Amino acid sequence: MPAVVIANTGDVPEFEGKITFNVIVCVVIAACGGLMFGYDIGVSGGVTAMDDFLKKFFYEVWERKQLAHENNYCKYDNQKLQLFTSSLYVAALIASFIASRTCSKYGRKPTMQLASIFFIIGVALTTFAVNIEMLIIGRLHLGLGVGFANQAVPLFLSELAPAKIRGALNISFQLFITIGILIANVVNYAVGKIHPYGFRISLGIAGVPALMLCLGSLAIHETPTSLIERKKVEEGRAVLKKIRGVDNVDREYDSIVHACEVASQITQPYHKLMKRESRPPLVIAIVMQVFQQFTGINAIMFYAPVLFQTVGFGSDAALLSSVITGLVNVLSTFVSVVLVDRVGRRALLLEACVQMFITQCIIGGILMKDLKITGNLPSGDALVVVIMVCVFVAGFAWSWGPLGWLIPSETFPLETRTAGFSFAVSSNMLCTFVIAQAFLSMLCHLRSGIFFFFAAWIVVMGLFALFFAPGDERRSC
Ligand code: BGC
Repeated sequence: MPAVVIANTGDVPEFEGKITFNVIVCVVIAACGGLMFGYDIGVSGGVTAMDDFLKKFFYEVWERKQLAHENNYCKYDNQKLQLFTSSLYVAALIASFIASRTCSKYGRKPTMQLASIFFIIGVALTTFAVNIEMLIIGRLHLGLGVGFANQAVPLFLSELAPAKIRGALNISFQLFITIGILIANVVNYAVGKIHPYGFRISLGIAGVPALMLCLGSLAIHETPTSLIERKKVEEGRAVLKKIRGVDNVDREYDSIVHACEVASQITQPYHKLMKRESRPPLVIAIVMQVFQQFTGINAIMFYAPVLFQTVGFGSDAALLSSVITGLVNVLSTFVSVVLVDRVGRRALLLEACVQMFITQCIIGGILMKDLKITGNLPSGDALVVVIMVCVFVAGFAWSWGPLGWLIPSETFPLETRTAGFSFAVSSNMLCTFVIAQAFLSMLCHLRSGIFFFFAAWIVVMGLFALFFAPGDERRSC
């Protein structure tokens, strides 16, 4: 959350400004935030599928996997194992509320620095973990990092980037998330053969974007909006001149001062958000997140290697298949960048619902027919499952993935935008937590039915998109 709170995605006024060094730093920061989050989404499923990791921390699960008559659907059903993945999202949920305060009170820059510090601590704890407790505490620190970064980074971008590239940065953030997931998949595949500590390398590499964010955030300026908001008006003007690389920044400066005045009149944005007139955007923001997660995307993103092992692939082939789905995810997000303003939001959402519904049903159907409690799927079937997972991921990646974030960022009016968006972020984290914590148990109890469960949600979200989702109109303020 990947939280993409880019403030202006619609028609934006043109102000003077060049593509300065600061703008480049801005893109690098966006990349680090997205990569950090994406890497963590992708890394957990890969290490979970590695025997060395299981033997060290989840011996019971490893032992169950070795049994000749292991239950295909239940071999990974273990609450603690799921907690390894899900704990990050509980911490991120809590942190995103605290971060919205630190962002306004102390600024975007210290909030990002705090994020990278939590992140570096989390990486150190997980990489050198000696027991489950240390591992989970490490994941909680990573979650705090994700929560702080997901609130501060997009805000920072929206305020620092020149208006004309803000919209592009919005979807780029999602793009960097998908690239982060792909890198994690590739790393998992590459280090899976290094025994016994390949998983530690996977966990440790998460420190690279965290360190980059930490160093990058030393080199950046606080945003003019944050300075002006906190009454450091002259400093705000000076920074604006510096980052735009021109002397005449009066128009943009006036517009920031005006925006800060409007925002300061709303002393209780959360209170305003609860008013009847704010309900439609609030409902849309929350519902988009719930639906996005109940497509089942993170069942795939977190547990693809586990799922592919469940249908009978060996550890290596399962990790390789995840690299393929990760690649499809990245490439399909590009499709969204190109199509979103041409064909409109509703069309993309609806088309993807049809595509995701069909693929979930086919996967469920194949497993129901051919994957018994023990024994493998015939290899032809397993291949069809991988292809269907790719088609499913493609549909998600050009629709509900980026639009799940873009639409909420476009629908709130200025006065309630930040508060409203923090609801979107936290709803996403909550649903992500639920899926991460429940998927492997649901797979064990519902077996192939889990895919029909997600298919049913897709029907509901299709109806929602048909009747309530915005078409191709964009916000104009
Ligand atoms: C979602 C994540 C998901 C990712 C997959 C994002 O939009 O919020 O939960 O893992 O897309 O690319």
